Amino acid sequence: MTIKIAPSILAADFGRLAEEVKAVCAAGADYIHVDVMDGRYVPNISIGQPVVRAIKRASDVPLDVHLMIEEPERYLESFAESGADILTVHVEASVHLHRTLTAIRALGMRAGVTLNPGTPVGALEAVLDEVDMVLVMSVNPGFGGQTFIARTLERVRTVREMTRARGLSIDIEVDGGVVVENAGEIAAAGANVFVSGTGIFRTPDYAQTIAAMRAAAERAATTTTQ
Ligand code: DX5
Ligand code: ZN
Repeated sequence: MTIKIAPSILAADFGRLAEEVKAVCAAGADYIHVDVMDGRYVPNISIGQPVVRAIKRASDVPLDVHLMIEEPERYLESFAESGADILTVHVEASVHLHRTLTAIRALGMRAGVTLNPGTPVGALEAVLDEVDMVLVMSVNPGFGGQTFIARTLERVRTVREMTRARGLSIDIEVDGGVVVENAGEIAAAGANVFVSGTGIFRTPDYAQTIAAMRAAAERAATTTTQ
């Protein structure tokens, strides 16, 4: 699977948002990861559709929109119109998860489903055919700058085994506490999409950080059976 680096805009300087988006695109980002938080599903409130539209205008790579909101099914169309290319929802946030994922694809977006650190991996079984990406959270969602939960690696391995067993080439994304130093072990576990907020935006040279993260992941991925 191709390694993709997705800087999380949550850690950018919001006062210079367009500039920051352009800078990470120029630095080699494959996606821009956009965290939408409603203050209900997660304790924090971040940004909504008007800001997603502004990010879209500044970006020349696909937008990977991570919805941390209750009842995401109510907003699928408006995020599609705002420029989301990949739309990811949490297992616990949508009562009719299967219907929600099908609706995301019907709107022309790629569908992602997200597991919190406390969500059983088995929750994926029934919806795996309806998704293009599985997001395995490596922190509890709501805040940037938290520490990577080590047990995530084992969970990523289980998800990768599940997709292989079903003959599906689904992206596995990891989000939370991802830095250059742990990118190798995350890739070795079977993930190929790397979200990183503070791990990229709090470094002086975005291009150098993204290149180092990609190199570490690619090295580990080729030395393990992908
Ligand atoms: C957390 C968000 C993340 C966050 C990651 O709820 O989903 O995307 O921005 O931030 P870092 O990489 O700083 O842990
Ligand atoms: Zn996120």
